[in-house]
Amino acid sequence: AIDISKLRDQSGYVTLDIGYKNTGATKSAITFLDGEQGILKYRGYPIEQLAERSTFIEVAYLLIYGELPTQQQLADFEYKISRHTLVHEDMKKFFDGFPSKSHPMGQLSSLIGALAAFNPQSLKQGLTAEEVNEEIIKLIAKMSTIVSWIYKKSLGHPVVYPQNKHDYVTNFLYMTFGERTEEYKVEPVVVDAMNKLLILHADHEQNCSTSTVRIVGSSDANLYASISAGISALWGPLHGGANQAVIEMLERIKEDGGDTDKWIAKAKDKNDPFRLMGFGHRVYKNFDPRAKIIKKACDDILEQLGINDEVLDIAKKLEEHALKDPYFVERKLYPNVDFYSGIIYRALGFPTEMFTVLFALGRLPGWIAQWKEMKENHEPIGRPRQIYVGHENRDYQDIASR
Ligand code: ACO
Repeated sequence: AIDISKLRDQSGYVTLDIGYKNTGATKSAITFLDGEQGILKYRGYPIEQLAERSTFIEVAYLLIYGELPTQQQLADFEYKISRHTLVHEDMKKFFDGFPSKSHPMGQLSSLIGALAAFNPQSLKQGLTAEEVNEEIIKLIAKMSTIVSWIYKKSLGHPVVYPQNKHDYVTNFLYMTFGERTEEYKVEPVVVDAMNKLLILHADHEQNCSTSTVRIVGSSDANLYASISAGISALWGPLHGGANQAVIEMLERIKEDGGDTDKWIAKAKDKNDPFRLMGFGHRVYKNFDPRAKIIKKACDDILEQLGINDEVLDIAKKLEEHALKDPYFVERKLYPNVDFYSGIIYRALGFPTEMFTVLFALGRLPGWIAQWKEMKENHEPIGRPRQIYVGHENRDYQDIASR
């Protein structure tokens, strides 16, 4: 119980909303989300239409600049990004120092933070809109190169340098799965799947990592530092890390004989810390529209690639059983975007530890758009209040007498 008298501090009453479950921290024109009805729109465009008809780079443009680009605007945007895909060779020395088995998210957040050190012009206060834009383009371009480096390192393979003739997603797949010597041919179904996954992850209003990006940026910290902080927030298994956790959970269920009811019972047991990974969402209380799209994409892609993944059957069984269970129904717990995304990533050839990094690659335009909006609106520094519940007054004692 909360002592109401404690809600008052010197400046008046403070709203206590632990976890910000019902606190609006900003006004935003980027993403609309209706959790009750399962609606998600970027800049007014339904996610279903964007996932079906757009590309990741077009969606990035939409999120960051507010409008769908004309053909010329898109061509310029793509051209500028392709000019910046190379990463400073000295960054590579730094990258080479990571142990080969270090987690990809730890590498990603450090490397993106390090980009600030390699781009000192980005630290200047009062950058013009054009200068900010230059950093935005660089970040989008270099992120895909860095993500592919991290993958190559996990295999002990040499990195593959970008080829600017490719579009963004193909270039990313080339640097990730291609070899230096061969002419890389990527299946259109793989490019489509990757575009879809990146689009579905591109923004999700004021979630944990996005709020982190905005709050770090509100201190006037540079773009790279703000995004690096967002990547760290995304890493947690209750947020972006859930996509890795889902596959690990499905694998465990498979190895355990595939008895989904047993695992559902475990998730319901309040004495057991286990939760059904990929189930539940802070704002979606009916269904996650991204999960619907991704479930269908998952079926299509596995079929087109001719893959039969037992884990997909377990996922479907788990979903079917959980959705009939009063525990999940009463608490409005449905599969979220990451329940099926890992199965597609796996089918495309990504190891489990890379999944959250791929989420970050997709979320990047959203983080940038939110950071830019916060700057353009001249929002004040983010600084929540608290209700102090600690000791009132104590006298310091020498260590020998404690
Ligand atoms: N399995 C079992 N029980 C669950 C689950 C789950 N996955 N999720 C929530 N619950 C239960 C809680 O135990 C709680 O039960 P209670 O009322 O009996 O105490 C109730 O449902 C409400 O849960 P909260 O944790 O209060 O809900 P909140 O909105 O704070 O959390 C969250 C949302 C973090 C996503 C949660 O559902 C969860 O941990 N899910 C699993 C992890 C996951 O998939 N995260 C990805 C989120 S999507 C994304 O970031 C891209």
